[in-house]
Amino acid sequence: MDSLPVALPTRTKVKVTAMPGDGIGPEVMKATQTVLAAAGAQVEWEEALAGAEAFRRGISTGAPQETLDSIARNGVALKGPLETPVGHGEKSANVALRKTFEMYGNVRPVRELPGIRTPFSGRGIDFVVVRENVEDVYAGIEHMQTPGVAQCLKIITEVGCERIVRLAAAVAEAEGRKKVTVATKANIMKLTEGMLKRVGEAVLKDHPSLAHEHMIVDNCAHQMVIRPEQFDVTVMTNMNGDILSDLAAGLVGGLGVAPSANLGDEAAMFEAVHGSAPQIAGKGIANPTALLLSALMMLRHIGDFATARRIEHALYVTLEEGRDLTGDIARDGEGVPTAQYVDRIIANLGRESEKVPEREYRPMALKRWPQITWYRAASTRELVGVDVFVESERDPRAISITLQAAAEGSAFDLTMIGSRGAQVWPEVGGHTFLVDHFRARFMFKEPPKGNGIAEITDLLQRIGRQHNWMHIEKLQRFDGADAYSKA
Ligand code: NAI
Repeated sequence: MDSLPVALPTRTKVKVTAMPGDGIGPEVMKATQTVLAAAGAQVEWEEALAGAEAFRRGISTGAPQETLDSIARNGVALKGPLETPVGHGEKSANVALRKTFEMYGNVRPVRELPGIRTPFSGRGIDFVVVRENVEDVYAGIEHMQTPGVAQCLKIITEVGCERIVRLAAAVAEAEGRKKVTVATKANIMKLTEGMLKRVGEAVLKDHPSLAHEHMIVDNCAHQMVIRPEQFDVTVMTNMNGDILSDLAAGLVGGLGVAPSANLGDEAAMFEAVHGSAPQIAGKGIANPTALLLSALMMLRHIGDFATARRIEHALYVTLEEGRDLTGDIARDGEGVPTAQYVDRIIANLGRESEKVPEREYRPMALKRWPQITWYRAASTRELVGVDVFVESERDPRAISITLQAAAEGSAFDLTMIGSRGAQVWPEVGGHTFLVDHFRARFMFKEPPKGNGIAEITDLLQRIGRQHNWMHIEKLQRFDGADAYSKA
């Protein structure tokens, strides 16, 4: 591959950890590094292992200590796709890396690319999905409650919401964008999803130059398909963001051309959205565009805006002209090898495309979150009752009789029994299909004198004589407001 001479001022090289990864990873990594080198990016790569080979060596996280040390030292990483091992009890190496460095923000630009034909071509789609990356149901806290009932805890924190909304605002400001859409399911999950909505409203008041809107996330999915050009920056909890960012990628050409960044205080890791594509690995035909676009995000992250712009224009010119594209995006279906596509991009360095939305990219002003235990106080807190989750094959009326008998002489009254969120006693709210998993709500007859633990323990012992109970939830009021959902 011939590279054009570039006249860039000599700067100190920034060390970046490069994890080629699995499958097509090494091919797209090499292609990306070749383009960056030809464009004169002042990057010094430190290659590190992650993925299948690490698992083969018995490293259960998929990333050896040297790799973690390298990322910690450099603070910036470019990563190829990692195969998720199946059936050996290992976790995903991707998740391990994100968690190790608390990379709480996943940023996915969604922009129409010239020459990549989609049903949405010509609409000028250009927005960013910011997804919370470490909380929510992806914390992976799951329990089988009964042999036939599973539970997953959705953990959402106020600080997690604040971090991600501040990140979304920082992305918007760094890219000169105008609006942040907070998309949640707050209408149903008032405490968890509602937290992002509330925090979004509060945090975005600090950013008066940004318009702020809230959108119910299912409508957001609908709007992304109906009128995607309305979005600028969107921010979501982990699972919603996972799903909608893939939907969004589909609007502009799919996973093969979708880049992403994982951002945290300690490290930033840039990667293509696609996986290791084992079917085409080793054939030299993989499309490196997604990783290259991720590398452009990385260059902007380290402040090399000029090189990022130069490569972006060359890539756009290449896509516009439509010559020498890989098979997955070639217009005539006749794809060329990865190396030939890379040569074409390099040959186009220095040319300008009129299709690149000219943005005044600025360094991101990202708040650092001090490494302290986060604690949010309440001026008042009351313990008012307890939900006890019991297993029973009996009907709600029969269960209510035994539970009321159990509570007799205790500090509590049984006030409600619910099944999968619907009340089934004292009144049944409609035709409820019953399973063997019930939530029994006990309220304190009088406020407990101490911390209420002795009363709860007594109640559990009483219930345990009749029923198998799985877990309990304290019913509390913080600052005078109920901190639990109604039946
Ligand atoms: P995949 O993204 O690897 O492949 C989906 C389809 O897209 C395949 O037809 C593939 O050939 C094609 N494709 C993907 N990237 C391409 C590229 N750059 N050029 C041309 N064609 C491309 O998804 P799949 O098959 O579900 O996953 C394969 C492996 O990758 C699994 O082990 C999965 O766990 C892992 N994976 C890793 C990710 C990561 O490291 N961030 C993300 C997604 C999957």
